[in-house]
Amino acid sequence: MYQGVSSVSLPGVRIVRGACAAARVLPLPRPLVRIRHYVDASADERFPCVSALRLERVSKHWGATKAVDEASFATPSGALVVLLGPSGCGKSTTLRMIAGLDAPSAGRILIDERDVTRAAPAERRISMVFQSYALFPHLDVAENIVFGLRVRKVSPAERDTRLAKVAHLLGLSPYLARKPSQLSGGQQQRVALGRAIIAETPVCLMDEPLSNLDAQLRAEMRQEIRALQTRLRITMVYVTHDQVEAMSMADRVVLLNKGRIEQDGTPAELYETPANVFVARFIGTPPMNLLPLVAGGGGAIVAGTEGPPMLPAACAGGTLGVRPEHIAIGFEDGVRVGVANVEYLGADSLVTCTVGDAQLQARVAGRCALARGDTTWLKWPRGAATWFDDTGRRVAHDSTEAPATMLA
Ligand SMILES: Nc1ncnc2c1ncn2[C@@H]1O[C@H](COP(=O)(O)OP(=O)(O)OP(=O)(O)O)[C@@H](O)[C@H]1O
Ligand SMILES: [Mg+2]
Repeated sequence: MYQGVSSVSLPGVRIVRGACAAARVLPLPRPLVRIRHYVDASADERFPCVSALRLERVSKHWGATKAVDEASFATPSGALVVLLGPSGCGKSTTLRMIAGLDAPSAGRILIDERDVTRAAPAERRISMVFQSYALFPHLDVAENIVFGLRVRKVSPAERDTRLAKVAHLLGLSPYLARKPSQLSGGQQQRVALGRAIIAETPVCLMDEPLSNLDAQLRAEMRQEIRALQTRLRITMVYVTHDQVEAMSMADRVVLLNKGRIEQDGTPAELYETPANVFVARFIGTPPMNLLPLVAGGGGAIVAGTEGPPMLPAACAGGTLGVRPEHIAIGFEDGVRVGVANVEYLGADSLVTCTVGDAQLQARVAGRCALARGDTTWLKWPRGAATWFDDTGRRVAHDSTEAPATMLA
């Protein structure tokens, strides 16, 4: 009946073709249905299907320090979620609580909708890659990779099979007999990665795994990790303070600041609709220009926005934000500015301009004919202006725009 099919998945059952002709039907616990089949060549490398993770108002207090303060977010199955934020914002603490290495002061952690808040690390089916790699210097690459399987008493035959697969995936097959000290930084990083994925856990946590590598290797490794995570459909929580890494790798970014989540969204949402001035400043290189609008003043800056000057009513005394790439330069209308600096970057140039006490940067294509000390004009399309109220929160455009007569 199942001739020609290596294995089939049905709701609630797993049908596995053994060595004998008859298929075995195995019950699976509901609601979890794991697809443990390898259907085609490209899927040969796939690990069992993955599960999702959810944090509900999780806090961690160290005395008076609120390392994590009521953090709630969900990680869709098979997605890569980046925890991003400045040093000390609570990224590692969040990761350690997910792994079970620290207990939350409050809140719940769920994996596959199962409450694991008080579960031991080994019961969570999670693997973790530490920033330092934490490789054993006296063990060779093969032993480092299978160390966890050996501890869990996985059979030698199964260990060898999984090792061969992981080594092939990560390009480590030629190095299995070497000690970590005989490897480059990138190769060591791959061994640490191998040790995590050989565990075949549905959730993998990574704490700044690339921070020891040089810029070029970082760029290569982040592509490799992303490709691997996608191919194996691992649910991954990846910690970094590097917003470029976050933007280029993540399905979702959770941006933390002082233990609290400032915004949780896709990279495009954080970039295009930052929830507040912290997000606007943190995402983007260079960041969004943020220009204070003093009540009754700031008209010169608002005049950079094309069309009749408009200002959301809630923004008098707030902030105007404009991305550097949205600013057009030198059209003899808009805002009159002085040129404070020009940086030529090859594909484009960054022009720093002053208007009154404010400074803003424009990114223009290629080489720019302007030089320090020149004067010019800046303007930007109406839709490029982002408005923040006096608490720093972004104000929705559509409902709040009002004529800017107050700016006269
Ligand atoms: N064991 C601890 N005891 C007391 N305070 C701690 C402890 N661990 C972390 N903290 C504090 O909690 C806050 C968050 O620390 P955490 O290590 O999570 O930050 P992080 O975002 O990972 O920073 P980095 O980017 O520098 O690694 C910091 O203020 C830190 O000093
Ligand atoms: Mg950390």
